[in-house]
Amino acid sequence: MGAGISIDDIYSLVSPKAKLLDSSGMLLHALSMPKYLSESIVRYKEDVSKLTLPDPSTFDGVVISGMGGSFISGLFLQDLASDRSSKAIILNRDVRLPRFIDEKKLLVAVSYSGNTEETLRIYLEGLRRNIPVVAVTSGGELAAVSEKLGKPVIRLPPGIPPRAAFPHLTAAIAALTSSVLGLDLLGELRRAIDELAKREDSVLSDGLALSRLLFSDVQNNLTPLIYGYSPYLSPAYRFKTQINENSKIHAFFGELPEVNHNEIMGWNGVLKSFTVVFVRGREEPKYMEARIEFLENLFDKNNIRFYNLHGNCEKRACELLSLIMKADVVSIALALLLGVDPTPVDTITQLKKFLDSKIGFSLHREIN
Ligand code: F6R
Repeated sequence: MGAGISIDDIYSLVSPKAKLLDSSGMLLHALSMPKYLSESIVRYKEDVSKLTLPDPSTFDGVVISGMGGSFISGLFLQDLASDRSSKAIILNRDVRLPRFIDEKKLLVAVSYSGNTEETLRIYLEGLRRNIPVVAVTSGGELAAVSEKLGKPVIRLPPGIPPRAAFPHLTAAIAALTSSVLGLDLLGELRRAIDELAKREDSVLSDGLALSRLLFSDVQNNLTPLIYGYSPYLSPAYRFKTQINENSKIHAFFGELPEVNHNEIMGWNGVLKSFTVVFVRGREEPKYMEARIEFLENLFDKNNIRFYNLHGNCEKRACELLSLIMKADVVSIALALLLGVDPTPVDTITQLKKFLDSKIGFSLHREIN
């Protein structure tokens, strides 16, 4: 990291046992995000240029389908691009593909492992409906079947926890969708990395400071509640999911302004053991600022603890990346403060094994 601080120094800033606990190096994954992103931009630009895909002008939109760690990059690209492209960016996290999705959409099926049932079913549905589909994966059934059928695949490097593959997934999806969306997404990401390099110290200091505050709140039985708004939904949602998977505690996500029309009533009731984080960016409109100000006043009156997590870049792409890095650092440091190894996600693995024994969905079998 910047200012010559080593990863060991960072671990000792968190806690004496932190380095030992993080035996699979989740913190290094998070801090290396700009480096991985920079390498991936070059790699996937080239990989995509070798694919045979329909003319981008034939598409009226893209559909990005994936679950968990394989979903977040789609949300990131929607935050980054949806108000600047005339083409639709549709995100899917279901086993069903809406009827209106047809051959005028580019379907990007994203599963880091290549074995996630939801994404395999979407891929199959795409094939059956003759929708042009590209797989983004490190292997599994998704890679094997795509290759067998001669369908395009972007191969990710193996052996990374899916949520830590965010830079690889983001660059791969950006490389695939840029020409359809009519935006230079890879160029924007490249410039964002340069801008981010100047802010690395604040990413770390803001992240560690917030992890200590949340640690103390969690010890007082307060559950993190993360509030975000467009175009910064991806860091807010990423924050919630990273607290779940890295810190292994409950955390919930709410989207402004919608929460002001329902959830806001909960602060009058008896169940309010939450600590709130607002995820905020430079493009915050006045109408959002006023809504957050109202909530802050409400929280002050009700003794609800709340914090603001700000991005600190000029451009949106850098803001999103810096917020995501901060959220990742908070969730990992929080795990280490709680005495938890951030990497394993045993219950998710158990669920997948259970589903395999109960349902045993196989893409191979379906296409034969
Ligand atoms: C694990 C993780 C999970 C997975 C999800 C889908 O690090 O982040 O959220 O991403 O279970 O699996 P994949 O990504 O393999 O399709």
